[in-house]
Amino acid sequence: MSETNYVFIKTANELHTLIEKASNAVILCDHNTEKFCLPLLKLSSDIPVISISPGELNKSTFSLNHIWNQLVLHQADRNTVLINLGGGVISDLGGLAAATFNRGIKFINIPTSLMGMVDAANGGKTGINYNGLKNYIGTFTSSESNYIWPEFLATLPFEQIQSGYSEMLKHGLIADKTYFELLISLELTPETTKTIDWLPLIKKSIDIKKAIVESDFKESGKRKVLNFGHTIGHALESFYCHSNLPHGHFVSAGILCETFLSHTLGRLELAESQKIIMAYDKIFNRIHFKPSDMEAIKKLTLKDKKNKNQIIKCVFLEQNGLASIDNEITLKDVEDSLNFYYA
Ligand SMILES: NC(=O)c1ccc[n+]([C@@H]2O[C@H](COP(=O)([O-])OP(=O)(O)OC[C@H]3O[C@@H](n4cnc5c(N)ncnc54)[C@H](O)[C@@H]3O)[C@@H](O)[C@H]2O)c1
Repeated sequence: MSETNYVFIKTANELHTLIEKASNAVILCDHNTEKFCLPLLKLSSDIPVISISPGELNKSTFSLNHIWNQLVLHQADRNTVLINLGGGVISDLGGLAAATFNRGIKFINIPTSLMGMVDAANGGKTGINYNGLKNYIGTFTSSESNYIWPEFLATLPFEQIQSGYSEMLKHGLIADKTYFELLISLELTPETTKTIDWLPLIKKSIDIKKAIVESDFKESGKRKVLNFGHTIGHALESFYCHSNLPHGHFVSAGILCETFLSHTLGRLELAESQKIIMAYDKIFNRIHFKPSDMEAIKKLTLKDKKNKNQIIKCVFLEQNGLASIDNEITLKDVEDSLNFYYA
């Protein structure tokens, strides 16, 4: 595993200079980050830009193919650096395109969403969705550098801020209760979003994830804690993939279900579980659900990448700030948690 170099950017000029310095750069963005973020960089017009349609449905083989084609068209070679300017869709997709093009070229992530800054751009997981299954094709490949500039958040819609916040809260829940409590004390709303000092919080989330990833890059053990909320969250996201609801909202639903299971299956104390559920309910609306969807969502949890021999393995909270991995759950447990969530 090669280490990603984190650079915390202070000015647009600094970012401009770093990108102009990269040899043979090609920029990957989506139509939103092309509109809102690319102009801030004031780059020279000879840097090629590949721009794709935004959204989770474009984290696909179709987009991957398009990026490979564009790289060929722009005469990219082994010395080319792909610069992923966007949210988690762009860093996952661009990371995979770079990891495979010419057997691997360098890439730099410039995350522009909160989700990207605190989570998706960090830790070396690249990937696309495949046949309706989340992140089923991908690699573990570290970016050369991540340039973090919270100024990009000024144009990010509030529901996308909430989405990233969901993963930040998760970082607190699995590793640092004080961080979780600090986050909930900020009372996230569209108004408070504008006054929050994001940089120290982003740094904290990066540090938590980095420490976990460094101990288990390829997720054979401890790294699985980062999947708290994702067993059920990914099943919901795969099922409702046409809903346009951001990733973190599905994760927050998964966190409520898996917090419920952590308590009912004998790990987490009732008072702790209630406090966590109340904190999430203050920030996120619950996702609407038709009871007739239940069987299909349950079946999707059987496809989770952490499972072994068709046994569903779930991350539990032992307490706020401490998680455990490889806890076996049944389809009945999944159903109970979804019934709790939708009650
Ligand atoms: N690889 C990992 O470890 C990891 C971790 C967490 C999430 N993810 C993945 O990340 C994805 C979710 O990331 P995301 O929430 O950033 O999604 P995203 O990339 O779709 O971005 C969300 C939306 O915000 C727009 N946007 C981004 N930055 C903007 C800005 N500054 N101003 C205005 N609009 C902006 C995008 O165009 C998009 O419409 C999912 O596919 C998820 O699976 C990966």
